[in-house]
Amino acid sequence: MRSLLALSLLLLLTAAYLGGGSALGRRAAWTKGPEGSPALPSGTSAQFWVRLSPEVVAVPPGDSVWLNCSSSCPLPEGSGLITRLRQGKTLRGPGWMAYQLLDVRAWSSAVRCFITCEGETRWATARVTAYKRPKSVILEPPVSVGSKYMLRCHVTHVFPVGFLVVMLRQGGRVIYSENLKDFTGPNLANVTLTYELSPGVRHLWQSITCHARLNLSGLVVRSSSAPITLSALAWNTKSTALSLASIAALLGILLIVGATYLHKYLAMRAQM
Ligand SMILES: *[C@@H]1O[C@H](CO)[C@@H](O)[C@H](O)[C@H]1NC(C)=O
Ligand SMILES: *[C@@H]1O[C@H](CO)[C@@H](O)[C@H](O)[C@H]1NC(C)=O
Repeated sequence: MRSLLALSLLLLLTAAYLGGGSALGRRAAWTKGPEGSPALPSGTSAQFWVRLSPEVVAVPPGDSVWLNCSSSCPLPEGSGLITRLRQGKTLRGPGWMAYQLLDVRAWSSAVRCFITCEGETRWATARVTAYKRPKSVILEPPVSVGSKYMLRCHVTHVFPVGFLVVMLRQGGRVIYSENLKDFTGPNLANVTLTYELSPGVRHLWQSITCHARLNLSGLVVRSSSAPITLSALAWNTKSTALSLASIAALLGILLIVGATYLHKYLAMRAQM
């Protein structure tokens, strides 16, 4: 563990999510061929298509979603849906079955449906993802600790934390970044990144921002904090006041040196 870092994760366990623990068991629902199937023209062909839509869908964690498995088979002999997600209601109509999936909490789940027509079974697939853009990214005003500054960034109500990267940036540079890939909790979470900065002169004037990035294989969701500057604080702290005094002294010395050179230069020109 790096000594400069203290990272704390606060699980957000709201009442709404307490019931979700059992959602990950594998379930398969088999639906036998429609009993009261509508009168459709006979003469089916084994050449039929099956579609599961939408093919890709994203929901906030804990929400439910409907997927529709449709086919061109006029008289299906069997159909069903296979997924790890918990299933809710089912609706059916001629050529389609709609399935409700409850409490989606896994970051990414494969869903497959099948239709059997004239003894042949065909499959279609879809992917259900759950994510939540952070509600807020807040970089606290820095607190000076001796000659260092404690920077603290809060990322609230975010999911999935395992795909989150939190960064502190200044100008174009990343001062510090933390990858939270080991965190696999099934709920929205608050994440606090703490970093102790030993400021150089350039740190005092450029603004610092905190960035949260969810990197969801293909989909990148970014949020960032309002900028802060250390210089605003500099006037309140002795240590920085001292370093500012030394900057002032350095500038004073440079001016004197400059003036001396100018004086010499002018003297030389006067002689030429
Ligand atoms: C997460 O952060 C929000 C906003 O600051 C706060 O209201 C909530 O209580 C926090 N949850 C936990 C578990 O700390
Ligand atoms: C399912 O899809 C079929 C074919 O596209 C459509 O006719 C039907 O209305 C859809 N059902 C629902 C519940 O969306």
